[in-house]
Amino acid sequence: MDALTDIADESSVAALSKIRADFPLIAGNEQVYLDNAATTQKPQAVIDALSNYYARDNANVHRAAHKLAGRATESYENSRESLRRFINAESREQIIFTAGTTESINLVAQSWGQTNLQSGDEIIITLLEHHSNIVPWQLLAQRTGATLLACNVTPEGEIDLADYHAKLSTRTKLVSVGHVSNALGTINPVAEMISAAHDKGAVVLVDGAQSVGHMAVDVQALDADFYAFSGHKMFGPTGIGVLYGKLELLNAMPPWQGGGEMIETVTIEHTTFNSLPYKFEAGTPNIADAIGLGAAVQYIESIDRSMVQQYEDNLLRLATSAIAQLPGVRVIGTSAHKSGVLSFVVDGAHPGDIGTLLDQQDVAVRVGHHCAMPLMQHLELPGTVRASFSLYNNTDDLDRFVAALTKALSFL
Ligand code: ALA
Repeated sequence: MDALTDIADESSVAALSKIRADFPLIAGNEQVYLDNAATTQKPQAVIDALSNYYARDNANVHRAAHKLAGRATESYENSRESLRRFINAESREQIIFTAGTTESINLVAQSWGQTNLQSGDEIIITLLEHHSNIVPWQLLAQRTGATLLACNVTPEGEIDLADYHAKLSTRTKLVSVGHVSNALGTINPVAEMISAAHDKGAVVLVDGAQSVGHMAVDVQALDADFYAFSGHKMFGPTGIGVLYGKLELLNAMPPWQGGGEMIETVTIEHTTFNSLPYKFEAGTPNIADAIGLGAAVQYIESIDRSMVQQYEDNLLRLATSAIAQLPGVRVIGTSAHKSGVLSFVVDGAHPGDIGTLLDQQDVAVRVGHHCAMPLMQHLELPGTVRASFSLYNNTDDLDRFVAALTKALSFL
């Protein structure tokens, strides 16, 4: 396979080699980790931010009059500001900390959806979506009488835009679409989809779980109404994520969970609510992981993101052309616009068996339906084998992956 120098220029090679050393579980592990779409590994800077917080600054935020609480609050709110900058939101009030993409989507479904949808309204998603961008809308449709429609996908694994435009109408109240497909890696034309939805007066949520760790995201340039993402797929901790929303939408939405922090005044009869973003952050928040996520943002900002994107694209291209030459291997998802994900099936073999044979050779991939069962039903597949890449993968990883797959095929 091409050397690293063939897929990145010389100064990038030095920078990229250093990146590998930043991740203890990558630098110190014999295993080839190609399950980055499930979760990424963590740089030492994120691990240190978590342990430093607990060792030096642990206290509850926004509540007490002592120095420790002041330090914890400052770090927590600094992270919010880092995340604002990271996605280019206008204000920090628009950054709501959640447990991750799934909770962000459920927040919108329960607060905005319950208030704004009724019988006769339509919600549009696509067949490419992860279950977390399907099931909350199904539940909402059942509660409100709205109808859930799913756009078709093409044989290449792209959203069928003709079908999307045909489904959009003045009945459409919400479009919810993934920025990047977790199962196939397709980068969806979300800016174009948002603009078309706005022409019909619909609100658009973008599920950014698979995009933020791989490409620069600008919520204002996209004109997204809501943007949801998780920390753990962008080198941050698990259990923390973000919901971004436009101010006028968030201000008009009712709280979705009651408790401390989200209130202004409480009597037994009545409660008035806190301002944004706290209105949506009931209870003691996940302080340590929010701080860890802020460290992940700073880590990403310390590297040249366009170089990394180019590098990851090249890794994906090399891996795709290498496995496409192997007998019986069929790549699933052949869009020209892809990020980080290589899904494939092998004639006559269950994806689970291929995953086991790869694992026996210390190559970690994900197999199965990838939480996208409607897509697998549409493709008439039981699932796929999915190798997914990140900035610390290199051509040695690709060589070992291709060699392990070649050996696995020889057992069939
Ligand atoms: N959503 C994660 C994945 O695609 C878990 O693997």
